[in-house]
Amino acid sequence: MDFEGRVALITGSSSGIGAQIAIKWSSLGAHVVITGRDQNKIDSVIKTCESLSIRRPLGVVADILVESDVKNLVNTTLKEFGRIDILVNNAGYTLSIDFSSNDYIKSFDQMFDINLRSVQVLTRLVVPYLEQSKGNIINMSGRSGERAVPKAMAHSMAKNALNMFTKCMALELAPKGIRVNCVSPSVIRTPLVETSLGDKWIEFEKLCATIYPMRRIGEPVDVADAVTFLASSQSASFITGCIFPVDGGAQWTHRPI
Ligand SMILES: NC(=O)c1ccc[n+]([C@@H]2O[C@H](COP(=O)([O-])OP(=O)(O)OC[C@H]3O[C@@H](n4cnc5c(N)ncnc54)[C@H](OP(=O)(O)O)[C@@H]3O)[C@@H](O)[C@H]2O)c1
Repeated sequence: MDFEGRVALITGSSSGIGAQIAIKWSSLGAHVVITGRDQNKIDSVIKTCESLSIRRPLGVVADILVESDVKNLVNTTLKEFGRIDILVNNAGYTLSIDFSSNDYIKSFDQMFDINLRSVQVLTRLVVPYLEQSKGNIINMSGRSGERAVPKAMAHSMAKNALNMFTKCMALELAPKGIRVNCVSPSVIRTPLVETSLGDKWIEFEKLCATIYPMRRIGEPVDVADAVTFLASSQSASFITGCIFPVDGGAQWTHRPI
């Protein structure tokens, strides 16, 4: 399997979708870097990886918005493993706010900083090493990047820009042998949505299950499987610049979520 011995740096791998990708790739024999801002969450994912693999993941506490942390994340990865084969730009969160709110501009900056600017900073640092390994990049977008969501306007715009970043970078890096793709999930059961929706979560999940053609919401493993396909040089060596939906067919419905 082409994950054996590969080095994968997955941001936001201390929770949800990122954690599931790290656990899967660790079980396939990859060296994974588990990162986020909370040491306890990192340790918990490392423990799961260790129960499935002989490889010990590297844990690095880093705030992806702090450039010195990002440099340390890359340098620590290189010091430990000497190379980087796959970068997954996954860390992110969403905020809902009215355009007329006094806090709108603050939220706008937060959404672009976490979902887009941080990706530029980290990707610029990692590309030289991906060039050496002929590796690849996966960006974590979302259905909101292609759909107008007024209350989550800044988040939608940032994810839409991430889609365009994916396409431009695919063209920029193809001559260097680096593929760049993006996944676009619908609602996936993770702490992000469970926490943000609070007691409305159960009702929301039922609504999605009614609307989505596959009659269920997504699970982190659904996204991890798609990311594994795209990151694999065996299954996706001629695929670059794609926005890959993981949405149970939701993109073809005319419903609001
Ligand atoms: N769940 C969905 O329905 C859904 C749908 C479409 C797209 N997505 C996208 O999928 C990605 C992962 O989301 P998720 O649902 O798995 O959420 P999650 O369970 O809340 O995980 C988010 C991860 O991002 C990390 N993170 C957040 N802010 C960070 C920062 N400033 N510095 C470093 N790490 C940071 C978190 O770590 P700490 O908080 O510990 O720092 C955590 O590891 C996001 O980009 C999200 O937009 C999710």
